[in-house]
Amino acid sequence: FQVENFQTDLIEWFKENQRTLPWRENKDPYRVWVSEIMLQQTRVDTVIPYYLNFMREFPTLEDLAYAEEDRILKAWEGLGYYSRVRNLQTAVREVVEEYDAVVPRSRVDISKLKGVGPYTAGAILSIAYGQPEPAVDGNVMRVLSRVLEIDEDIAKPKTRKTFEEVLYELISKEDPSSFNQGMMELGALICTPTSPGCLLCPVRTHCRAYKKGIQDTLPIKSKK
Ligand code: ADE
Repeated sequence: FQVENFQTDLIEWFKENQRTLPWRENKDPYRVWVSEIMLQQTRVDTVIPYYLNFMREFPTLEDLAYAEEDRILKAWEGLGYYSRVRNLQTAVREVVEEYDAVVPRSRVDISKLKGVGPYTAGAILSIAYGQPEPAVDGNVMRVLSRVLEIDEDIAKPKTRKTFEEVLYELISKEDPSSFNQGMMELGALICTPTSPGCLLCPVRTHCRAYKKGIQDTLPIKSKK
């Protein structure tokens, strides 16, 4: 497996083919953070108008920290899972008080914030701060399970760690942001759960599942 060629093919494809999305306009960690929280349980198309409105209402981390709860709940109305935005406000208040309003740059510190799990931590650190930190969600597990023919059950909680360990070796140290977003984008646009578009895939020459024609059998996901 040629790590560098894989990275280059993925990143080049991402740069040419990424969707224009409002949270990709700049890499302010607060903006990245809000987008990742919204995208956790909600589809991209649904998130876009909410994201634009939220950023108009609360343009900076401090605006959100000092906002009335009614206003933030109102801005979230229709997205559901309201604990997400309550936790987000708790967390940004913590950032203001404990970190001088600067989102922490270390995985240990950022992970202490309410609602920031391993995926969100990796997404913020890589996209906003350019750190080579993995961001493992369902899309990324699907792509990587196919490329490397990993047959671990992605429904098991401990499987995420396996993928993180592999990704620490695989992630581009030159452009961790494009690498991680490329993995997400590939999962969204090409390496879909059913009928993946392998003939259009920028990394199919690296893909063990494609070589064997077993892309439809991965990832393994037990139901429970
Ligand atoms: N899903 C989760 N994070 C995303 C992102 N940054 N861009 C597009 N889809 C996503």
